[in-house]
Amino acid sequence: MNQNKVAVIGSGLMGGGIAQLCAQSGFETVNVDIAQEPLDKANALVEKLLGGKVAKGKMTQDEMNAVLGRLSYSTDFDDIAGACVVVEAVPERLDIKKSTFATIDEHADPEAVLLTNTSGLSVSAIAAATGRPGSVMGAHFFYPAPVMKLVELIRGLATTDETYERAAAFAAAIGKETIDAPELPGFVVNRLIVPYENEGAFLVMEGVKPEDVDRGMKLGCNHPMGPCELMDFTGIDVVLATMRGLYEQFGDSKYRPAPILQTMVDAGRLGRKTGRGFYDYSK
Ligand SMILES: NC(=O)c1ccc[n+]([C@@H]2O[C@H](COP(=O)([O-])OP(=O)(O)OC[C@H]3O[C@@H](n4cnc5c(N)ncnc54)[C@H](O)[C@@H]3O)[C@@H](O)[C@H]2O)c1
Repeated sequence: MNQNKVAVIGSGLMGGGIAQLCAQSGFETVNVDIAQEPLDKANALVEKLLGGKVAKGKMTQDEMNAVLGRLSYSTDFDDIAGACVVVEAVPERLDIKKSTFATIDEHADPEAVLLTNTSGLSVSAIAAATGRPGSVMGAHFFYPAPVMKLVELIRGLATTDETYERAAAFAAAIGKETIDAPELPGFVVNRLIVPYENEGAFLVMEGVKPEDVDRGMKLGCNHPMGPCELMDFTGIDVVLATMRGLYEQFGDSKYRPAPILQTMVDAGRLGRKTGRGFYDYSK
């Protein structure tokens, strides 16, 4: 096993950023996806972001070249062989996570730590798709992964102490602070922030302007963004799915998603990524 090699599975919004961060932190990093197109997009985005750092004098061209030299992209799971840590960031569906972990199990080094970036699925259920549940745990990054300081560490029922310690050491090696979070929907941060956002959506449904909801929290509570801005940033579909997960799994009506969120998803108003959410970003 190569103590300096990391594999990141999935090259979307989170996986691409986590791979960038690992390469920036000195790890030889392979980013694996099932399709070439997201890999190409992730590669182009990393080049753009690092190029921006060089232009601002925050990184030299040589440093940028070194980071890019440590980062490779692949559609072949054979390329994760030898990695000491595998970080999974595929879509938030248990069936996809389980089949991905079964594949990771076939290809990863027997000693590797296997981390899932799930936002709220059961780590134990994901781990059970492998023959080594003790090596699996949750490591929940925040968007954008290269910037946000926090990683929530979530132990599954079978996670060993050694896995936990190696995951914590890995998080520190890529410059993150960690908190321990329970294996319960929403962990710590989403359990707090998503119901808060949902209440913002209820206020909008009740006729309050998104601008007033947001200004209220920015001016009254010193939040950098209000809940509507934050939902647009995260993606209305992502917020709705997380809220629905809290509602279904806790079975408590306090987690009932605001119906306006489903309406917005149906209309394609997913936030910044589609140019329209609570606000219009098309101009
Ligand atoms: N978006 C966020 O702000 C955020 C924050 C924290 C955690 N997460 C979690 O991170 C995970 C990924 O989210 P995302 O927003 O990056 O999703 P995304 O849709 O942007 O990217 C997912 C990628 O996984 C790829 N993929 C699908 N099946 C695969 C497989 N079997 N093997 C390899 N690659 C596969 C897709 O092609 C896609 O490129 C989810 O579990 C999500 O809940 C997301």
